Amino acid sequence: MAVIESSTDVVLGGVRGGPAVKTLRQDRWWLQPVVTVSILTAFVVYSTWSAFNPHNYYVGAMMHRDLISPFFSPCLASSCVAGSKIGFALSGWSLSPAFLILIFPLGFRLTCYYYRRSYYRAFWWSPPACAVSDGHAKYTGETRFPLLMQNAHRYFFYFGIVFNCLLTYDAIRAFHQPGIGFGVTLGTIVLTVNATLLWLYSLSCHACRHLCGGSLKTFSNHPVRHRLWKFITPLNENHMKFAWASLIFVALTDVFVRLVASGAITDLRLF
Ligand code: FES
Repeated sequence: MAVIESSTDVVLGGVRGGPAVKTLRQDRWWLQPVVTVSILTAFVVYSTWSAFNPHNYYVGAMMHRDLISPFFSPCLASSCVAGSKIGFALSGWSLSPAFLILIFPLGFRLTCYYYRRSYYRAFWWSPPACAVSDGHAKYTGETRFPLLMQNAHRYFFYFGIVFNCLLTYDAIRAFHQPGIGFGVTLGTIVLTVNATLLWLYSLSCHACRHLCGGSLKTFSNHPVRHRLWKFITPLNENHMKFAWASLIFVALTDVFVRLVASGAITDLRLF
């Protein structure tokens, strides 16, 4: 049987580091990088502002509440407002208490495999999208400093788990309202949703999935790890969604606590 060979010449004209973005794509491929840049920039600007403004991050007994912003929890400095400390206080720390802790959640996000893909594309154009020419002449991967640091992701994952436990504790504690007792308010719901999304983000992490089921030759000899891996895998498929939802919601939680603490809004009691 004769084999008919045909070919279509496709000339992108794009080489790594071309002077301008080159592509044959006709769709709005640029939309995703634009959205990524917008959301990540807004988050970085807001979280930096919040960290530099250590006021109104805690709603305490005066308002019959126990709500702390996730950007300031655990509050470890001796300058932390009454009620927000967890029993341990670092004396002599004159900067914002947020700076003592933010490196861990930020390091976890920054080195996340999903976010790497997003911000390499959106900010560094390496490449901006599939089938769009790269904005840089050379590609050295993550083999040198500073990108070599991305390999620390699995260690940030462990810290992330510790922070999730602490934020879960904050959410549970919020259900006990000083001077009132047990109750559900908008604030308790906000803190609970925030902790839940952060758990979903962490549990769906690729490092977590590898921890559960990686480096095994057979699953049959490791039934517990196999079960964990099967539980984690569907979460892992949705990691991108959890990454964005938890990022946006953690900032909204900070906004909510600040608004209540400043008296701009009241924390509605449901029952
Ligand atoms: S891969 Fe995204 S948090 Fe680990």
